[in-house]
Amino acid sequence: MWDIISPFFKEIHEDLTEELKYQKLKHEIKDVSELIERLASKAKLDPLSVDFSKHLDENDRLKSLREEFNIPKAGDIVTDGVEAISPGEKSVYFCGNSLGLMPKCARELLSQELDVWASTGVAGHFQHKFNRPWVSIDDNVVEGIAEIVGAKPIEIATMNTLTSNLHLLMASFYTPNKINPPPGEFNERLEDILNIIEKEGNKIALVLFSGVHYYSGQFYKIKKITTAAKAKGCVVGFDLSHAVGNVVLKLHKWKVDFATWCTYKYLNSGPGGIAGIFIHEKHANDFNRPRFAGWWGSDRKSRFQMDKPFQPIPGAKGFQVSNPSVLNTVSLLASLKVFDKTSMVQLRSKSILLTGYLEYLLDKQLNSLGYKIITPRDPHQRGCQLSLLVDENKVEQVSKGLMKYGIVIDVRSSSVIRIAPNPMYNTFSEVFRFVKALKLIMSDLGISFSVSKEKSETKSLMYYIHRHMDSSLVIAYLKVPISFET
Ligand SMILES: Cc1ncc(COP(=O)(O)O)c(C=O)c1O
Repeated sequence: MWDIISPFFKEIHEDLTEELKYQKLKHEIKDVSELIERLASKAKLDPLSVDFSKHLDENDRLKSLREEFNIPKAGDIVTDGVEAISPGEKSVYFCGNSLGLMPKCARELLSQELDVWASTGVAGHFQHKFNRPWVSIDDNVVEGIAEIVGAKPIEIATMNTLTSNLHLLMASFYTPNKINPPPGEFNERLEDILNIIEKEGNKIALVLFSGVHYYSGQFYKIKKITTAAKAKGCVVGFDLSHAVGNVVLKLHKWKVDFATWCTYKYLNSGPGGIAGIFIHEKHANDFNRPRFAGWWGSDRKSRFQMDKPFQPIPGAKGFQVSNPSVLNTVSLLASLKVFDKTSMVQLRSKSILLTGYLEYLLDKQLNSLGYKIITPRDPHQRGCQLSLLVDENKVEQVSKGLMKYGIVIDVRSSSVIRIAPNPMYNTFSEVFRFVKALKLIMSDLGISFSVSKEKSETKSLMYYIHRHMDSSLVIAYLKVPISFET
C-alpha cells in the first residue's frame, strides 16, 4: 500500500526507516477521505466505482498476504436458516477482531509437532527433528511478538490466556497503601482521562486500561495515559486484545509497566490460542514483587532440579507458571511467519486506507440510511474496526442479510455491528461488496435510526484500583469497573 500512499507525501522514499514511515503516516494523513479522492483523481476513476476498488487492490503491495490464509467459503459460514447467495464463493471475512483466519502454514507446522509427538514422545522436549525442542518452544515466538508490540525480548513471555494473565499480573503489580479512595466517573475524551489521573492519581495504585476498545474501536493514547499515570506514581497496565497486530505499539518506549493480549484475533493463532505478556525491562530484575511462582518461571538450567528453590528468570519469562501448550505456541508461530513477510507499519498504512475507504463509502452511499459510526473519525484514534450503531430491532436482520451475501461481521450489545477489514487478508473490493450489500439490505428494511440509543452502550475499559484496597480485592476489580457513557 505504501506505493499508493507515498506519492502524496512530501519527501517520501522507500528507503526511509520504518520509524520515519510511521511518523509520516501519523503526521501526514489527517483526512482519509481527502486522500481517497486524490488517489481516485490520479487514477482518473470515480472513487465510488467498483473499478476504483479494483485499482486499489491491484496496487496493494500487501495483496500477496491474502494467499497465506484459508478464507472460509460463503456456504460454510452461514447459520441456521440462512442460505448464502453464492455458497461456493469465498466469504468476505470482517471478523478478525473476534477470531483471525487460519494461516495456511499452520496445518504443516502443527502436523510436524504431531509427528514429533508420535515418533519420539517425551524426547520431543529436547530433541526435535524440526529444531523446535518443546522445552524452549516459546523461544520461537518471543522475538516476533516483541517486534509487533514494540518490546525487547526480555519483556515478553507467552503463557495461559488473556484473563488469567490479567489476574496474575495484577497480583504482582498491584501494591496498595493506605489512602482513602474517592469515587470516580470518566468519559473517553483524552483530556477527561488525563484530568482524572491528575486529580485522583495520588490515590490510585493501578491504572488498567484497554488499548483499543472492543466495542467502539477507539484506540486510546497509550503513551499519554501512561506518562500521566506514572507521573502520579501509579502502576500502568494494558489489555491489548484488540490492539496487538492491529495498531503500531511501542510498549517499551512508552514505559508501560505491563500488558497482556490474546493472540487469536489479529495474531491469527486459532481459537483459544496462547496469550502473551509484556513486563517492562525496568522490572526485569525486581524479584521482590509478589508473583505466582511456577516451575516454568524458574531458571532453565536448574528447573528440573526439584530440590533447588524457585529462581525466577529475569524478565517476563520469570512470570510463566506452567509449561506452555506446544500446539498453541506453534500455531502462533505459523501466524508470525506471515507477519515476518511484512511489518506493522506496512500493515497499518494499508489498514488506515482500507478502513478509511470503508468509512468513505458508508458516508457517501448510506448517508440517508439509519446507522451511525460510533468509532472515532480520526484514523489515528482507531484500529481497523468500524462499529456501526443500527436499530436494535433490525440488527439481527442486517446481520443475517449480510450472511446471505457471504459477509461475516459480528453484533455486540444488541445494536452495534462491528466490521473489521483486516489488512492481512481483506481487499478493497470486499469493502466495496460489503457497502453495496449493506445498502441493499438497509434500504429493504427501511431502517430508521434513533439517536437516543447512542447514549447507553459504550463502556470504558478503564479500571482503577485504589491504594487502600486489600490485595484480595484485586480479583474483584472486574466486577466493579469504573464505567461511563458517551
Ligand atoms: C477486551 C477483551 N478482554 C478480554 C477478553 C477475553 O479473553 P480470554 O478469553 O482470552 O481471556 C476479550 C475477548 O474477546 C476481549 O475482547
